[in-house]
Amino acid sequence: MKAIGIIGSGQMGAGIAQVAAQAGYHVYLSDMNIEIAERGKAGIAKQLNRLVEKDKIESQAAEIALGRIEPIVQLDPMANADIIIEAATEREDVKRQIFAAASEILGHQALLATNTSSISITRLAQAVKDPSRFIGVHFFNPVPLMGLVEVIRGLATSDHSVAMATDFAKAVGKTPVLAKDSPCFVVNRILLPMLNEAFFALGEGTASMEDIDRGVQLGLGHPMGPITLADLIGLDTLMEILAVLQNDFGDPKYRPAPILRKYVEAGWLGRKTGKGFYDYSGEVPVPTM
Ligand code: CAA
Ligand code: NAD
Repeated sequence: MKAIGIIGSGQMGAGIAQVAAQAGYHVYLSDMNIEIAERGKAGIAKQLNRLVEKDKIESQAAEIALGRIEPIVQLDPMANADIIIEAATEREDVKRQIFAAASEILGHQALLATNTSSISITRLAQAVKDPSRFIGVHFFNPVPLMGLVEVIRGLATSDHSVAMATDFAKAVGKTPVLAKDSPCFVVNRILLPMLNEAFFALGEGTASMEDIDRGVQLGLGHPMGPITLADLIGLDTLMEILAVLQNDFGDPKYRPAPILRKYVEAGWLGRKTGKGFYDYSGEVPVPTM
């Protein structure tokens, strides 16, 4: 039996769990407590049901995939896993604690990976027992729809681990690309300055959030405007990523726009909390300013 452990059952952990279960993996899905892990599984059930309703998958296939997902709290069952992926909050202290615990139970042949958006893999490897079996596998949101996985090797990551990570990405239907262990790797290094600039423009009153979104969608052909995309990603996550860019490059050009900080301080973190730059409580998202 192929098995995977996923630590953090938020939007990314749940997305990775879904594609892994659909690809035939038994999935141990953990979080801070069992209620959150169960909530992650319930969200996956909804997504799978939607696919059934749209005739994209058979109802039996959805049931089988859902049956493969096992919410847990203690990590011990992950000793059976071929790969453990950490997909918890984008904070180095949180991730380091998780790696210390995961290293204790990681199987001798297994791979330990992180879905971090920005943090150095080489630095995070200090918190694991065997840095040669530690790697970045960076999925994109929403995981079931986005085709890319960035694979990031730290200084000590072995060739065998890189091969395992790329094979895993392919096994769950994604296209792996190799990225250097540099702050934010490749795609977020390009995306984050654009999103932050959109926040500055919004804060300065250059245009309304709807017009900023409409402008980028119609003028650049992006599927989503930057403010809507920021709400999808999570504003807390964006603040943390910008802090990594600013600190690791030592360049103030990455300082988070004040309006982003304000929304995070209000706890308006985006879709995941029901309110970010837009309010998602009604039928249609409504701007909050
Ligand atoms: N989860 C699962 N399915 C979803 C979804 C979600 N969150 N959102 C939409 N969908 C599905 C819809 O149900 C719909 O399915 P059907 O075609 O079967 O009806 C399909 O996707 C298209 O949806 P919509 O027509 O509503 O919307 P869309 O055409 O705009 O597509 C999208 C949705 C694919 C998300 C598209 O808007 C898009 O590509 N947006 C940009 C996403 C992006 O840039 N992601 C990367 C973020 S950065 C990152 O992930 C890295 C990081 O570290 C921060
Ligand atoms: P999220 O806020 O939706 O979920 C984070 C989850 O981690 C929560 O359920 C939280 O309870 C859990 N968690 C926190 N501390 C934990 C601990 N000690 N043990 C176990 N679980 C813990 O965040 P997300 O958007 O799913 O992001 C998760 C990771 O994926 C972050 O590193 C983020 O940078 C990265 N990422 C996010 C996106 C995105 O678009 N949101 C895209 C790619 C990568």
